[in-house]
Amino acid sequence: MNEITIKVNGKSVSGPVEGRTLLVDFLRGAGLTGTHVGCDTSQCGACVVHVDGKAVKSCSIFAAEAEGAEVATIEGQANPDGSLNAIQQAFQDHHGLQCGFCTPGMVMSAAALLKENPRPSEHEIREYLEGNICRCTGYHNIVKAILAASGQDVSAIAAE
Ligand code: FES
Ligand code: FES
Repeated sequence: MNEITIKVNGKSVSGPVEGRTLLVDFLRGAGLTGTHVGCDTSQCGACVVHVDGKAVKSCSIFAAEAEGAEVATIEGQANPDGSLNAIQQAFQDHHGLQCGFCTPGMVMSAAALLKENPRPSEHEIREYLEGNICRCTGYHNIVKAILAASGQDVSAIAAE
């Protein structure tokens, strides 16, 4: 076991890890259980966090690889006053979630997408979310929420 320190949502988080400890397990072990594990094949995207600003499936990297990096998780996404940020609010307003299991990963992926591409098309959103699986919503309202969060008109998106 080695002690490592990772900066998560602006705060240093330390803990002992084995070489094989995954970043998602390190985060969840530190009480940051908003990052979910939905598969063991790196397919579902429920575990997406940002590592140095880039969306990463935290089940696909070792915790030790993130040492010294800046990690952002869903717990750090709300506004400083605790209110939902624009993406979270849009998910709520447009019913972009049902059970909510995929939601942290969806919100983190959406945040990374909007940073790269502030006004993505519906097609670009669907393409970007290819690595995020949702078993409940059929994706429609998730796409709508992300379009709305980017300030675009969602009335052209047919209701479902
Ligand atoms: S838990 Fe990481 S992709 Fe499914
Ligand atoms: S809301 Fe249930 S998996 Fe997406």
